[in-house]
Amino acid sequence: KHTVLTGITTTGTPHLGNYVGAIRPAIEASKQADVDSFYFMADFHALIKCQDPEAIALSSKEIAATWLALGLDTDNATFYRQSDIPEIPELTWVLNCLTAKGLMNRAHAYKAAVQSNLDEGLDADAAVTMGLFSYPVLMAADILMFNAHKVPVGKDQIQHVEMARDVAARFNHHYGETFTLPEAVVGDNVAVLQGLDGRKMSKSYGNTIPLFLTEKKLKKHINKIKTNLLEPGEPKDPDTSTVFQIWEAFATPSQTADMRKAFADGIAWGEAKKQLFELVNEEISGARSRYEEILADPSFIEAELLKGAEKARAHATPLLDKVRKAVGIRSYR
Ligand code: TYM
Repeated sequence: KHTVLTGITTTGTPHLGNYVGAIRPAIEASKQADVDSFYFMADFHALIKCQDPEAIALSSKEIAATWLALGLDTDNATFYRQSDIPEIPELTWVLNCLTAKGLMNRAHAYKAAVQSNLDEGLDADAAVTMGLFSYPVLMAADILMFNAHKVPVGKDQIQHVEMARDVAARFNHHYGETFTLPEAVVGDNVAVLQGLDGRKMSKSYGNTIPLFLTEKKLKKHINKIKTNLLEPGEPKDPDTSTVFQIWEAFATPSQTADMRKAFADGIAWGEAKKQLFELVNEEISGARSRYEEILADPSFIEAELLKGAEKARAHATPLLDKVRKAVGIRSYR
């Protein structure tokens, strides 16, 4: 048996990028008999980017409802809130004590923050919190706590999984075999789904297509995807097109081949977008109505998450005892 684990930060509403990059492959993986799966809402990570309590609470609910609506089987998978597992921040501290600061200096999110400060003529670390700086260590604790083998993520998170691996290797080397070395798993077609403006689809760019819009709004969003000015009849380049890229993430290989041909034949943008809407809508329309029902039933969501927390802690508690013992600190339980 191997363990698959992934999390989503509770800032904002889940979008097509989260779905194809993380949620869909994770739910697929959880159906395999030889897989133990752990999926969670990273609400402690959310505090790094968002200091609005209501937004965090709403996003947690939406993300939980999304996984449940998409058919995650919570008897099989362990589905929980990061903040319900106090062993995670405890492990984070232990890992902090053997993580090189130099490793964190190389983390993309931190480097991007420093670069944008410098570009604006500010102090390099202006507004950089310790939370942002040590974000990969909390993420390492998320992963190592459950001895995950595979971590399905979008491309943007690969570096963090590699850092978790480094930290685990360092711990094992110094204190003896304790953690499994995790590996990132990234889908080929969908490594970085593009957003409305052609940049990476991201909550922080405001260019997302939320997963569960009404049909009307989904159509509207898809119509807003930026395209070049080619007229109907002019051949279009699929490899630079966001419409094509999203198509590929939802289509079968033969549908993708057909669309590639339609691009070469100069399909009109309006027509390509109409077909894209139909394809995406077909895949998610069943889950959309379940999503609305689940969102309207917070006590159901809560019961699911508490069940998950209990299952997760049954793994976390003994592992943390082992870690405490390894580093020379007695267990208080
Ligand atoms: P987050 O919340 O930014 O994104 C959640 C997941 O969605 C993927 N993703 C995308 N995939 C393809 N195309 C896109 N445009 C796109 N945008 C987002 C992300 O790669 C991610 O897999 N730090 C993580 C959450 C986290 C985590 C973990 C993940 C915390 N602890 C442990 C795995 C294991 C994050 O902020 O993801």
